[in-house]
Amino acid sequence: MKLFVDTANLADIKRLASYGILDGVTTNPTLIAKEGVSLETRIKEICEVVSGPVSSEVVTLDPKEMIAQGKIYAGWAPNVYVKLPMTPAGLIALQELNKEGIKTNVTLVFTANQALLAAKAGATLMSPFIGRLDDRGQEGMALIEEIVDIYDNYDYETQVLVASIRSPRHVVNAALLGADIATIPADIFDKMFEHPLTTSGQEQFLADWEKVKNKQ
Ligand code: E4P
Repeated sequence: MKLFVDTANLADIKRLASYGILDGVTTNPTLIAKEGVSLETRIKEICEVVSGPVSSEVVTLDPKEMIAQGKIYAGWAPNVYVKLPMTPAGLIALQELNKEGIKTNVTLVFTANQALLAAKAGATLMSPFIGRLDDRGQEGMALIEEIVDIYDNYDYETQVLVASIRSPRHVVNAALLGADIATIPADIFDKMFEHPLTTSGQEQFLADWEKVKNKQ
């Protein structure tokens, strides 16, 4: 499974990239607003660090404007993926961007039917938001199971990008279900490293080494 980070924070992106575990980045307008930077500047900065897919989201309801924004974003770097909403307008824009060979990420997917429509329309990536479903008392991971089955049944090329991840367990479950990609907030990435036995084991090894390191 590919691992993307879900952030627009450049320091976190650089840090995670330095571990050799980062396949791509997803951003959204909320994440960009949190950083207080220009979208163009930040996406270009991210693309200098990460060579894999970097998602940049359109910010309009109008399909023509989505197409125009998508073409501009795609000009910023060869690895920019244009994030489009899972709406009729988003799928109209998707058709045009596909014709231009521009890669897309259909976002805000909450049902298997929406995932089916995104695949039929030819999305490159498709992002179901599992945490937001969990927040409503639904089982987000059940949606991933349905989508993976449907895409497997028909060999759709659209990749399942599990989004709105809230815990390390979400990542494990996404991998067990065979999702193509998980996009993970930086703090959840950090938690994936953690185990108390790793910490205590390392402390013990270093303490024991101190006892013998000067022996000839
Ligand atoms: C995905 O591309 C989205 O940016 C993201 O996963 C949304 O997550 P949230 O529900 O934590 O805002």
